[in-house]
Amino acid sequence: MQVAVFDDVTEMGAVGARRIASLFTRRPRSVLGLATGSSPLPLYDAIVSEYQAGKVSFAQAQAFCLDEYVGLPADHPEGYLNFIRRVFTDRVDFAADAVHAPAGTSSNPIAAAAEYDAQIHAAGGVDLQVLGIGSDGHIGFNEPGGSLRSRTHWGHLTLQTRKDNARFFGGDVSSVPESCLTQGLGTIMDARELLMVVNGENKAEAVAQMVEGPVSAHWPATVIQAHENAVILLDEAAASKLKLRDFYQESWETFLQYQWSHGE
Ligand code: F6R
Repeated sequence: MQVAVFDDVTEMGAVGARRIASLFTRRPRSVLGLATGSSPLPLYDAIVSEYQAGKVSFAQAQAFCLDEYVGLPADHPEGYLNFIRRVFTDRVDFAADAVHAPAGTSSNPIAAAAEYDAQIHAAGGVDLQVLGIGSDGHIGFNEPGGSLRSRTHWGHLTLQTRKDNARFFGGDVSSVPESCLTQGLGTIMDARELLMVVNGENKAEAVAQMVEGPVSAHWPATVIQAHENAVILLDEAAASKLKLRDFYQESWETFLQYQWSHGE
């Protein structure tokens, strides 16, 4: 795991965007995994800038969202497929039918979950997965207590997550769906590369657990410690509870110089 800390989220987004642009320039048919929520917005804005500057194209790419609410109408603006189209994929040259999310409107969410894993597999797997983290340590919508090897599944959201996400629903917790379809931790861990972006003090405890805590279903993001190619981009507030922050920063400089700059 590589951890880098930034003074501002714009710079953090730009670093992540350059990595994604580099991948899609080398391998235009790659598969991108997408997180929704507010953390990746500076990253998506920065990728749109790279696209507008002619530095990257997604015309041959495919994208898979991490998760989708269950129970929202298909045209609800906060549905994650609609959200990701609005904030990112419609602003670049993804083909409309190349952007996927679990079928949250399906009458059979269990079958829809299995179909989603099959779709990801058929596309060749995710090459680079963008992640955020919840204040309770979830990634995707894998809430505490789930299997560390789960596949895409129908899950329940914690009250904490619903409170956190109420800001997208006019501040009304009761409007936030109680369940979702989410890629499982096993599905996420199959991605060849993980790129997490996190900002804000409300994430500091979850970040400290993820990077320095024991691997535990209680903090689902800790599973990332076992991934061979995971990069975590943080702002100062999100990094504020890390004990080895200075070491990570030194190690990051070496990583940048010897690995990312060689396209690997
Ligand atoms: C959303 C997702 C979630 C979010 C997390 C943080 O697709 O996968 O894990 O990344 O809830 O959300 P924000 O960034 O809104 O704080």
